[in-house]
Amino acid sequence: MAISVEKLHPHIGAEVLGVDLTKPIDTESQASIRKAFDDNIIIVIRGQDLDEKAQIAIGEIFGKVVVRKRPAVGNLPGGDYDTPFMLVTNIVENGKPLGSFGDGEMWFHHDTSYYPEPHRATLLYAQKLTTWGGETCFANQYAAYDRIPKKLRDRLEGRKVLQVHDYKRRERLNLDAIDLAQVRHHEQPIFITHPATGRKSLYVSRLMTTRIEGLPHDESEEILEQLFDISEDPAIVYEHKWQLGDLVVWDNWCSIHMRKDFPREEPRLMRRITVEGQAMGF
Ligand SMILES: [Fe+2]
Repeated sequence: MAISVEKLHPHIGAEVLGVDLTKPIDTESQASIRKAFDDNIIIVIRGQDLDEKAQIAIGEIFGKVVVRKRPAVGNLPGGDYDTPFMLVTNIVENGKPLGSFGDGEMWFHHDTSYYPEPHRATLLYAQKLTTWGGETCFANQYAAYDRIPKKLRDRLEGRKVLQVHDYKRRERLNLDAIDLAQVRHHEQPIFITHPATGRKSLYVSRLMTTRIEGLPHDESEEILEQLFDISEDPAIVYEHKWQLGDLVVWDNWCSIHMRKDFPREEPRLMRRITVEGQAMGF
């Protein structure tokens, strides 16, 4: 394959051209795709006719593909388990949601930041789209880290944050109003060192980060609000307008993403897989 790469944004995102994922991906092409991913945090491969097998094959370029397991605690997301595929969709069949994250806007987050070993990458493939909306915005969290005022950064270095997620909720959870034992949660470094690149990255998000450990409540809230604004700075955000057949792959350790609203009466269907990760270190 004659692969070329075109940047979509100065800080984040590139389109990889010249790829046909219905054909086996030779070693050289795999290396080019991986490099585009490492250099750009998210990559877009358009116009693909991707069956499940081909999606797994491209996923394996980045690591071991995760098989979804039923969570031990918390509300169950929809869809099937013991398969790598999660359908991100609002489609309901016989009264039962076909997948997860059905409708509406979703605030900025990392996928699985509330796991002990957050997933390395997510691969999302567009199969049905609405007439408007549903864009996904991606923000570069290396750049966010660099934008934190030095004094604040020095003060927060070495601290941890609590990441919490409940599939039924679309806003940041109020820890005073929930039983933490009933929702998935995990402490993570507030700044991670990306295991693959060795670069520092901000690791908070408006949807999932509930507190900075060891700080009084009000101070933690105030600093988190400041960090959320930095993490979502429009200057470091690429907005992806989906087309049918788009495959988007994102580095889930150094980027956050959000979804814009779309008409709930129209079907939207995306097929998602993720790639295994590891524990996050300072
Ligand atoms: Fe997500």
